[in-house]
Amino acid sequence: MIYVTKSFLPDLKEYVSYLERIWQTNHLTNDGPLLLELEKKLAEYLEVDHFIFVTNGTIALQLAIKALNLSGDVLTTPFSYCATTNALIWEKCNPIFADIDPQTLTVTSQEIRNKITPSTNGILTTHVYGNAGDLEEQEKIAKDYNIPLIYDGAHAFGVRVKNKSIFSFGTVSTCSFHATKIFHTIEGGAVMTNNAELASKIKGLRSFGHKEDDYFDIGINGKNSEFHAAMGLVNLSHFPSIRAHRKWAVTRYDELICSPVRKVQFQDNLERNYSYYPIILPSESDLFHVTNHLLAEGIKPRRYFYPSLNTIQIIQGEPCPISEDIAKRVLCLPLSADIQEEDITRISSILMSHFQ
Ligand SMILES: Cc1ncc(COP(=O)(O)O)c(C=O)c1O
Repeated sequence: MIYVTKSFLPDLKEYVSYLERIWQTNHLTNDGPLLLELEKKLAEYLEVDHFIFVTNGTIALQLAIKALNLSGDVLTTPFSYCATTNALIWEKCNPIFADIDPQTLTVTSQEIRNKITPSTNGILTTHVYGNAGDLEEQEKIAKDYNIPLIYDGAHAFGVRVKNKSIFSFGTVSTCSFHATKIFHTIEGGAVMTNNAELASKIKGLRSFGHKEDDYFDIGINGKNSEFHAAMGLVNLSHFPSIRAHRKWAVTRYDELICSPVRKVQFQDNLERNYSYYPIILPSESDLFHVTNHLLAEGIKPRRYFYPSLNTIQIIQGEPCPISEDIAKRVLCLPLSADIQEEDITRISSILMSHFQ
C-alpha cells in the first residue's frame, strides 16, 4: 500500500549515536542537553528569538492561546485540520470562521476585516499546506485592532516568505513535528515568538506552571523528552535532502496532472517546503470515483481537509461557502521523502484516466 505520507526514518546508527549521549548523561527529560541543543538550532534555523519545544502541535496551540489569555470570539479558518478549531474550543474560546481564498485556500485579509467586531479578541489562522495569506496585511489588522495574531504553522516548517522565515510573522506561531510531518521528532511541536515575556510565560505553563521551584500559574505538562529531541537533531541534518526530493516529486506530479484537476496556488514570494500534494477535483463524485480507483490499486490518498470546520456538528458556525465547497473536492496524493518516479507516474495516470 502506498499511503498519503510515509514517516522518514534516518539510519539507525545515527539515532543510536544520540541515544549513547542520553545514556552518558542519564538525563531523559526536563530540559536535557539534547533538547536545549535542538531548541537553539531550530531558533537559529527558523529565525525566531524564542523556540519552545513541546509535546505536540496541539499542545503548542493550547499553550499559545492560554498564554495570551484568549477568551470569547477568536477569528479563525474553517480550512485546516480539526486541531486548530479544537484547541480554541478546548481553551473555551468561541471560533468565528472567516472564509478562504479559492486559489490559495488560506483566509483572506478582506474576510478577516469583514468578520472582525469589537468582541474579536484574537486571530488564529493556518499556513495550510505550507502556504500563506497576506501576512503583512494580517499583522496590520491585528495591530489596528490591538489583538494577538496566532499562526498554526503545523505544515510550514522551513517555509520562507519574502526571504524571511514564515514563523517570524504574527505574535506567536506553532508547528507540529508529528511523525508524518516533513520534519519530525516522532511526536512533538513548538511554540515560537519574538516576544520574550510571552516566551517566558509559555515555558512556565509548559512545565506545570512553575518557574524553578516556585509555582506562578496553573500549567500543564507540555514538555518533551531527550529521545524526541534526538530524533529532531538527526532529522534536521536530513531536512535539505528531504525537501529536495519532495520538490522533485511535486514537479513531476505537476507535469503529469492537468486540467480539469486543479492545483493550489502558492504565493509568489513564498519558498515552499513541499509538505503536501493537494489537488482539487471538479466534483465530490469525481473525488469518490478517483479515490476508489486508487484504493483498488493499493494507493491511499487522504481527504485533507474534510469537512470544513465550520460545519462540525458541535460548532455549527456561520456558512463559509468557499471552504465548504473546496473541502468536499480536495484530496492529498501520496508524497514522501522516498516516493519513486514509477509511483508518481502510476498515481497520476490512474487519476487522469478518470477524465479521458
Ligand atoms: C493544521 C494542523 N494543526 C495542528 C495539528 C496538530 O499537530 P499534532 O498532531 O502534533 O498535535 C495538525 C496535525 O496534523 C495540523 O495539521
